[in-house]
Amino acid sequence: MLYVILIVFSISGIHGYTDTKVRRFKDDFLFGAATAAYQVEGGWDADGKTESIWDRFLHSHPELIPDGRNGDVAADSYHKYQRDVEMLRELGVDHYRFSISWNRILPTGFTNNINEKGLEYYDNLIDELLKYDIQPMVTLYHFDLPQTIQDLGGWANPLSIQLFEEYSRIIFERFGSKVKYWITINQPNSICVEGYGGKRAAPGIGSSGIGDYLCIKNVMMAHAKAYRLYQKDYKPKYKGSVGISLALNWADSVNNNTENVEATDLYREFTIGMYMNPIWSNEGDFPPSVKKRVLERSLEQGFTKSRLPELNAEEITLLKGSADFVGVNHYTTVLISKSEKQYPSPSIEDDMGVEITFRTEWKTSQSFWLKSVPYGLYKMSIHINKVYDYPPVFITEHGWSTKKVLKDSSRAKNMREYLHALLLAIEDGTDVMGYTAWSLMDNVEWTAGTSERFGLYQVDFDSKEKTRTARLSALVYKRIIEQRIIEHDWKPKNLNISITRSKKNVRVDL
Ligand code: BGC
Repeated sequence: MLYVILIVFSISGIHGYTDTKVRRFKDDFLFGAATAAYQVEGGWDADGKTESIWDRFLHSHPELIPDGRNGDVAADSYHKYQRDVEMLRELGVDHYRFSISWNRILPTGFTNNINEKGLEYYDNLIDELLKYDIQPMVTLYHFDLPQTIQDLGGWANPLSIQLFEEYSRIIFERFGSKVKYWITINQPNSICVEGYGGKRAAPGIGSSGIGDYLCIKNVMMAHAKAYRLYQKDYKPKYKGSVGISLALNWADSVNNNTENVEATDLYREFTIGMYMNPIWSNEGDFPPSVKKRVLERSLEQGFTKSRLPELNAEEITLLKGSADFVGVNHYTTVLISKSEKQYPSPSIEDDMGVEITFRTEWKTSQSFWLKSVPYGLYKMSIHINKVYDYPPVFITEHGWSTKKVLKDSSRAKNMREYLHALLLAIEDGTDVMGYTAWSLMDNVEWTAGTSERFGLYQVDFDSKEKTRTARLSALVYKRIIEQRIIEHDWKPKNLNISITRSKKNVRVDL
């Protein structure tokens, strides 16, 4: 490839060189795109669907959304799923990751009333994907708990474990024969730390240091139960793979001072180890350093035992090995230093005792927390290889936010650089099954509404049709999928995109 200019940035402190070697994604490497039910579907009360915690939260707190757009209509994928599949065919992807809305299937939250209309919607979407040999990757839970279950305490109540298992059985029964890739739960840490610890994400409980830890245990157990259920009753027939998607961002120490390096280790255990350890470590359980720290602080605060609930021997065994792959959602990197700040007590911030900053030279997206630091993906991959012995990885999300703009060169650049970092991680032994771009299209970015755009396709939310238009990054992604290499200086002639995935030209044989 003559005009291929590869690797213009150097990954500092890793390979320590700028090279021009052409690295390829293997033919069986899967490329896909992702969305989540609340963020794209709309139809929030259509055909029997009832209120989820995000419906309740954003209906009650419109003041939190800068542009006022909640998920009531969103990109209207509930009615426009055929256009969504057409976009996937334009991109030429191998898989589509989407989530199922629990409330669409079980309007009461419980199994006493199964909504056929809700099942039909996903059946139609799955069939439309399979027609073009695009593999559905189904997330059972992406943040939208039925409000009825929240009214009983939600994920802070251990009853949620059984309820999730029952809901999962209904989904596996109905779609098991068609779906080969499953994600039980998306980002336990966001569900629990933001939703139960904090107040600015649904359900907004604000019980940091207590509610967040109760939630983490229950969400992890719910995952393990659903995994075991699939293993026992569905895997023998359908041979699918089941994973969990974790928010695995990277954290570097601000400098080499011992106290900062130690603080960074502890932070990684709170954000990575807390979720990886129970499933992928030899011993199982939450990380020893986290258990020790929360116990110490709890006793100092006058509690009689740790605020972090224990996993008993049976629970440890159930969790250990309960995933066929780790779904990695990787977006950004932070810098950590030890903090002497007085955080509210008790709280997870106080338990961690760190300060989070960013390097000023890191390029910022439209989201204040999201910086472009490609080496973070490389370092995070090497970290989990080292600590958890090379678990199979599926990148289930990576993305970049912009304003509403079609020529999104910053997204194209970010994607190329991160995919390059991924190729380096693969070269150094990381076992990566595939990559999933977040997001197929602009959507409701939770409390940010539509003020932060993550789509490869722009959505015109003001139009009745919710018109979708390919961005520059869609063409760049399509080209990467076709060529299987990264061409940093390739430019499309225009932003026209045509379908390349028809029923006949099936490239990947799964
Ligand atoms: C979540 C998505 C979200 C994205 C960008 C991920 O952590 O799974 O729902 O839109 O981040 O913030």
